[in-house]
Amino acid sequence: MKIVLGLTFAAALSAAAFAADQSADWAYPVTPPPGQLDNATQQSVPGSSAQYTQAQIDDPFNPPDWFANEHPPMPQIVAHGGPKPAGRACAQCHLPSGDGHPESAGLAGLPANYIVRQMQSFKRGERNNPRAGVMIAMAQVLSDDDVKAAAEYFAKLKPTAGYNTVKETDTVPKTYVGAGGMRFKSEGSETEPIGERIINVPKDETEAKLRDPHSGFIDYVPSGSIARGQALASGDGGKIVPCSLCHGPDLKGMGEVPPITGRTATYVYRQLNDMKNDWRKGTGVNFMKPAVARLSDSDMIALAAYLESRDP
Ligand code: HEC
Ligand code: HEC
Repeated sequence: MKIVLGLTFAAALSAAAFAADQSADWAYPVTPPPGQLDNATQQSVPGSSAQYTQAQIDDPFNPPDWFANEHPPMPQIVAHGGPKPAGRACAQCHLPSGDGHPESAGLAGLPANYIVRQMQSFKRGERNNPRAGVMIAMAQVLSDDDVKAAAEYFAKLKPTAGYNTVKETDTVPKTYVGAGGMRFKSEGSETEPIGERIINVPKDETEAKLRDPHSGFIDYVPSGSIARGQALASGDGGKIVPCSLCHGPDLKGMGEVPPITGRTATYVYRQLNDMKNDWRKGTGVNFMKPAVARLSDSDMIALAAYLESRDP
């Protein structure tokens, strides 16, 4: 009888843990296994004379560079990666522009020392949300010199204003998670209530799949989020420390504390939720703990929406 009870209790516990993780599954898309990639048809994007096949576009050690004239020369680690198979080229997911995709992160303009510290955190497993696996594997095989070169490259770049757009709405198109872990509109014109979620889709699905850095993303957020987020960011009537105290008067970063405006709300939400749930830990995160401990799920969505509505 004891054993049966024990088992039931364990089953109930793991069911509860499962429910908690699943509650924000929209923020942690699971990348489906890639299909057969076309290695014959030459693809191009508007404004570039370069051509690549889809197999070349998705090559983790030689991702496309559609606009080589728009960024400084990329160090080897950014353009072609390090030790195989884990040490992929940073530009594959974060793009040569550093603006990134919502299921990874924008790196453009982050302080170099902040980037180096994050790589150390991944390496130590202090950042271990369900999307961090590739970064943890990578951080374990890269040399300090490679990490430094990548950090200096991305720190020099300016995030592109308007690349990430936030829109308030009550209903969203039905979507599914597809290639590269991105969310795409399902066929047809069906919609569903947004609920307490952020739904991120590319502005142009074809361009996103081609990793065109000129084509950004839209985060749909629940109506009223931006104004609520602004109130929270300025301290919610004295209940939390204003974000500007550490992130700078315009929230564009201060010293090694990272800039938080103009970034995709999906990523920002994921970080706040991670810090709240100990999926992201460490000395730097301890400064954030008192703030995130007070935030509800819809507060975190609202903050992420407000921050995205501001220019990077
Ligand atoms: C296969 C895709 C992929 C590649 C390649 C990749 N990353 Fe990432 N990166 C991610 C994902 C996914 C996250 C977001 C994890 C999360 O939500 O916390 C991330 C997050 C980061 C962050 C955290 C950003 C922040 O604001 O704290 C840094 C720094 C970073 N990556 C650096 C790099 C560097 C340097 C390289 C190349 C050596 C690289 N990444 C290559 C997928 C990738
Ligand atoms: C007491 C100082 C402090 C306050 C107040 C603070 N932050 Fe932070 N925040 C930090 C530090 C330090 C980091 C970097 C953590 C690290 O090194 O991993 C950070 C990181 C972040 C990140 C992760 C950025 C990234 O690139 O991954 C987000 C998002 C963020 N803060 C949002 C907020 C918001 C929203 C508020 C207000 C509600 C806020 N912070 C208030 C100090 C603070």
